Amino acid sequence: MRIATTQTFPGPAWDELHDVTLLESWPPAEPLPGIEVLVEAVVAVGPEELDLLPDLRLVANYGVGYDRVDLAACRERGVAVTNTPGVLDAAVADLTLGLILACRRHLVASDRFVREGRWRRGWARPERLGRDLEGATLGVVGFGRIGRQVATRAEAFGMRIVFHRRADGIPLDELLRTADVVSLHVPLTPETDGLISRERLALLQDDATLVNTARGAIVDEEALVEELVSGRISAGLDVFADEPRVPERLLELPNVVLTPHVASATVETRGAMTRVLVDNVLAFLHGEPLPNQVVA
Ligand code: DGY
Repeated sequence: MRIATTQTFPGPAWDELHDVTLLESWPPAEPLPGIEVLVEAVVAVGPEELDLLPDLRLVANYGVGYDRVDLAACRERGVAVTNTPGVLDAAVADLTLGLILACRRHLVASDRFVREGRWRRGWARPERLGRDLEGATLGVVGFGRIGRQVATRAEAFGMRIVFHRRADGIPLDELLRTADVVSLHVPLTPETDGLISRERLALLQDDATLVNTARGAIVDEEALVEELVSGRISAGLDVFADEPRVPERLLELPNVVLTPHVASATVETRGAMTRVLVDNVLAFLHGEPLPNQVVA
């Protein structure tokens, strides 16, 4: 049984997989018969890619989000799909709080201010005052494992929490209208693609902060850029609609903090994700039930 991977993954668990072919390009330049397991992150896996792997039986996705894997196409061909949930919630929640603080207290702009030698007037006359987290309202969109961990952390900072999810919480538009900080924690699906539309972005209060550590396509990126260029709101963005492309106009804005999809990027968490990924592949190889089979 042969395994192909689009990259190697951090942590000791990775070495438990043997006979692994590291693909030089994706999609593969030519059909690869005999490959039964594909280990991947970040790449698209749809009908065209699957056609190049005629013997494939498992796509093991590194990450909790599997929006780039075409589940219907996999199901049609009898290919199972697994993901790595449950081990990255704390790391993603931590970075979310980091982005909230960075935006509300101008951390990145302040760092730049000092480095560029522009600090000349002492502490009592800062260029721009930040906003307290204590007493501010955090609106959490999507209240699953990650959203709840964000809420717990924000509560410790004295924030008031409101949330929206399909089954309960407050209506999305009310959340957007009333929260000082809005943080997105829904998966990217056909229902959430473009969920935060131009009209919904316009509901945000002046001086509100939008934080996205989920998926870029959940927000109308063009409309978000326009709101940010106007200076009406601020944003902490770890994800973008067409990664690694970041809209050019964001690069010079002081009211945006940009990170390169690193919410889960700690030694501990990425290693734990590899552990879960490898456990799924080993279960498959041993003919056991897959611990994290994605059910569409
Ligand atoms: C995921 O797991 O889906 C991520 O976006 C990587 O942190």
